[in-house]
Amino acid sequence: GTATPLRHFLRDDDLSPEELLGVLDLADVYKRDRNGYKPLAGKSVAVVFEKNSTRTRLSFEVGIAQLGGQPVIVDGRTSQLGREETIEDTSRVLSRFVDAVAIRTFAQRRIDALAGVSSVPVVNALTDEFHPCQVLADLQTVRERLGRLTGVRLTYLGDGANNMANSLMLGGANAGLHVTVAAPAGFAPHAEFVDAAKARAADTGASITLSDDPQAAVDGADVLVTDTWVSMGQENDGLDRVGPFRPFQVNQALLDRAADGAIVLHCLPAHRGWEITDDVLDGPSAAVWDEAENRLHAQKALLAFLVGDAAAAV
Ligand code: CP
Ligand code: NVA
Repeated sequence: GTATPLRHFLRDDDLSPEELLGVLDLADVYKRDRNGYKPLAGKSVAVVFEKNSTRTRLSFEVGIAQLGGQPVIVDGRTSQLGREETIEDTSRVLSRFVDAVAIRTFAQRRIDALAGVSSVPVVNALTDEFHPCQVLADLQTVRERLGRLTGVRLTYLGDGANNMANSLMLGGANAGLHVTVAAPAGFAPHAEFVDAAKARAADTGASITLSDDPQAAVDGADVLVTDTWVSMGQENDGLDRVGPFRPFQVNQALLDRAADGAIVLHCLPAHRGWEITDDVLDGPSAAVWDEAENRLHAQKALLAFLVGDAAAAV
């Protein structure tokens, strides 16, 4: 057949700013008509989980089917990956069966190794370093609530060194947002990811700001985002993941400092009473259920872009 260049989505900046907006526009189309487009007809997509999931599993499995494709959900722990078949050998086999692979795993180098020998597109369904599919849904949610992306002031509070912080910096920069990461001492983003986000921000008019002052960081913000203080795999890392984080809890007092009409995002699962309070999560500013739903639409658009029949995509 005709050689289409192989594209992966391993981190947020694997899409250009123009491609990102195209995917978000397509996500809005798919949100209006869930079953009207079949760009994955006759194709299969494997979705591999080496960590727990509710939303990612549901949104990929349902979304691939809605696009006319066949989802194959693979539990890493009961596959031969769980008995130490290498990620490269697994990837070589997956490429013989399916048209794309999404994977949730640990270190980014593991998805890089998978993609390195893959002959089909590979999608990051969460690694220790990035959660780019989540940020596609977050950006779709911001645009539908606020009507714009360029210039939106987004403040993330919590573990500045986790996957969500990195992806919000990188994806936010890609979309032209002003992103502030507010984290306690010792939990600031790593320089490598700050530098990558600043490089992309220089192309889009975005900005990246680091802070250890939660009050100042939310003053005038349009979007507040938080996430668990203990990501998957960090349960026994020996760090105090409670005490230093308490001032960064998203509660009503903090929300009151944000801009009028500010929205609150959380990728979920939420730990009520820890990183976010019940009143905020259940209150009028929270957009978290729409955010969860938008995983479906955003990932369908991404898969249509990476592997779909373009003529059937829109
Ligand atoms: N937000 C998110 O990725 O949720 P799951 O861990 O349930 O997939
Ligand atoms: N930072 C969290 C996100 C869960 C969707 C984790 O990695 O566990």
